[in-house]
Amino acid sequence: MRFASLLLAAASVASTVSAYWLGDIPHRGLAPFAGANYPVFRNVRDFGARGDGVTDDTAAINAAINAGNPCNRGCASTTTTPAIVYFPAGTYLISSSILPAYFTHLIGDAASPPTLKATANFAGFGLIDGNPYYSPVLNWKAVNVFFRQVRNFVLDTTAIPPATAATGMHWPTSQATSLQNIVFNMPATGDVVHVGLFIEEGSGGFMTDLTFNGGATGASMGNQQYTMRNFKFNNCKTAIIQLWNWGWTYHGLSINNCQVGIDISAGGPSKVETGSITVFDSSFTNVPIAIKTAWTTNSNPPTAGSLVLENIQVNNVPVVVQGPGGNVLAGGIGSSTIAAWGNGHGYTPSGPNDFSGPIAPNPRPAALLGANGRYYTRSKPQYENHPASSFLSVRAFGARGDAAADDTASLQSAIDTAVAQNKILFIDHGLYRVTRTIRIPPGAKIAGEAFPVILSAGAFFNDINNPRPVVQVGSYSGQQGYVELSDFIVSTQNAQAGAICIEWNLATAGGNPSGMWDVHVRIGGFTGTQQQVAQCPKTPGNPTVNPNCVVAYMAMHVTKGASGLYMENVWLWTADHDIDEQQNTQITIYSGRGLYIESATGTFWLWGTGSEHHVLYQYQLANTQNVFMGQIQTETPYFSPFPNALVPFNPNPALNDPDFRASCAGASGPNCATAWGLRVINSKNILVYGAGLYSFFDNYSTSCSTFAAGQVCQQRITSIEGAVSNVNIYNLNTIGTREMINRDGARVAWFADNVNTFASNVAVYKSG
Ligand SMILES: *[C@@H]1O[C@H](CO)[C@@H](O)[C@H](O)[C@H]1NC(C)=O
Repeated sequence: MRFASLLLAAASVASTVSAYWLGDIPHRGLAPFAGANYPVFRNVRDFGARGDGVTDDTAAINAAINAGNPCNRGCASTTTTPAIVYFPAGTYLISSSILPAYFTHLIGDAASPPTLKATANFAGFGLIDGNPYYSPVLNWKAVNVFFRQVRNFVLDTTAIPPATAATGMHWPTSQATSLQNIVFNMPATGDVVHVGLFIEEGSGGFMTDLTFNGGATGASMGNQQYTMRNFKFNNCKTAIIQLWNWGWTYHGLSINNCQVGIDISAGGPSKVETGSITVFDSSFTNVPIAIKTAWTTNSNPPTAGSLVLENIQVNNVPVVVQGPGGNVLAGGIGSSTIAAWGNGHGYTPSGPNDFSGPIAPNPRPAALLGANGRYYTRSKPQYENHPASSFLSVRAFGARGDAAADDTASLQSAIDTAVAQNKILFIDHGLYRVTRTIRIPPGAKIAGEAFPVILSAGAFFNDINNPRPVVQVGSYSGQQGYVELSDFIVSTQNAQAGAICIEWNLATAGGNPSGMWDVHVRIGGFTGTQQQVAQCPKTPGNPTVNPNCVVAYMAMHVTKGASGLYMENVWLWTADHDIDEQQNTQITIYSGRGLYIESATGTFWLWGTGSEHHVLYQYQLANTQNVFMGQIQTETPYFSPFPNALVPFNPNPALNDPDFRASCAGASGPNCATAWGLRVINSKNILVYGAGLYSFFDNYSTSCSTFAAGQVCQQRITSIEGAVSNVNIYNLNTIGTREMINRDGARVAWFADNVNTFASNVAVYKSG
């Protein structure tokens, strides 16, 4: 009996080693600008890591990370040295920090996540230190750290004495990064000082499916903005400490047996450091104080500490919100649900009204809901139940991925064959240059390796009067079907004035919506695009457009017949600087439009998306409905107003483009003809849970984006137009913008009436 179970145990250990398909498939990723034999994929076992819980694997893991000399200590940023560092199941003992390079993903076996176990005398700032302090400043400028992931791990600090400082993970990073499926195990003693996740800076970002057990603080975090989903906190003293922020969106928090749930009291009432948080579809159980705030009716800055709660279950929570003067919202011993509650400035639809108390919850369209009336969510599929034989590689079809060969036919053949054979297409890392539209048909499941790039090129995509999709999902608007796309990038090369990077035509009804997870549009600013410092340097004060630097017509178009799309951690970025130039020098390139949704049926989820530096708008929704957005983040082009948004893209009425020549006639104030951050036309049930719409620059100078300067980078940034209903925004934060919201051109909210820490904040806007 005993002998048999030992054999079984041994067999199960053997079978879990590299049973996950990612470890088993052939590894053919190519980094064309990294030098010969640069390894994209690295298995830590190949570098001597044992994962036996006994051997110190620190050096072997860091050797796997640093093979091929990627962008680590002293390097500013890169797109040329991508890496996946794969950890088969096991327990990896470490005595100092794992230090991932820029553009390096750490990925554990998704079916059996490996444990990184700190030794008792562990030394380092984080079992994983995502941005080390080799000097008094971070190795990488936190707001420029993009394109990195960590998923499927257990981080264990329980061997470190509880009263000794320890950090599970240090992660000051920004857009297009993600953490997924990570458990933080810490001691749960009275004297514990361990912290699970620590973030002090950055411009995030997205995380999901994290569990924090024990510790003094589960997550201690400061950052401009974030979207975080499905976090569980068990037996932490404090689940979340917010060090500072502008806006933060929390969905699906489950906080259990913690003394304090979310502490947003940093700075105290005279200098509140938390701009705003939005918490919804969440629960607190056996938590004496769910939320601890510094906000009062006369705290400073006036709108800092803005709070919106919606659909919150409390069970044995005596105090739901505690302010400096005592309870602000009492709870109780039993269970109850808070439909919606908040404090801050409201415009419903006019204002500002100072409020603190219950508010009407958003009416939620059934089409957007999953179980229990919560908004539907689905984490990135990792295909942990599929063997390696379920995957087809694009390399097997002759795709080169060297940014030079024409890979149109081979890539298309790989996609079509994978669909025909019901396989998942693996896009090995590379830059796949295409000269015609790539079609993704219904049934496609595509996963990339460390963000391979589909790079449009040539005359086909360079006609500003005849725009064409680079990647077309569904071959006609309204085609029925279902797809899953993850971990790749769509881009353009040289002048591409007619390139629509992604066109979404697919209608998905019933069952799961189609999905895009960590699929990004990255326009310019990296090797292979020829849209870099050498070709498109910034030209402050010069309004003349260089036609070689008109590089995209639109980032993503969701067409009239499309419906049922789930987007998570999608960043539609026109580069403001050159990632592969070590000074990160700014560049001037032109992309016409960000994300345009004109679907009649609607039903879209945008979890943790951003759209930046497009000329006419970042997000535009027209004649649509049932769209969940949270958190959205936008930035206006840095070159504005040289030139302004009147050039080089003429308004296309067929796309409902904004016509600034008309709408700015007679407008007061500076810089009217400047990109909208969010424009909503004739739409209903547009439910925004957190928005950061920023305009930091005027002629490449940030001196316009302060309260002292009067936030004069641009005049307007949010436009609600026509017949709308339930266009509701929680925690709108604007920067550098005089008018925060306009309704049919008329000003609704003014920056100076809503001063927050760095932004202006409206906690609740309801269009009616
Ligand atoms: C724009 O910035 C450049 C560089 O700082 C400066 O030389 C120029 O005078 C500025 N133009 C205007 C109109 O402010």
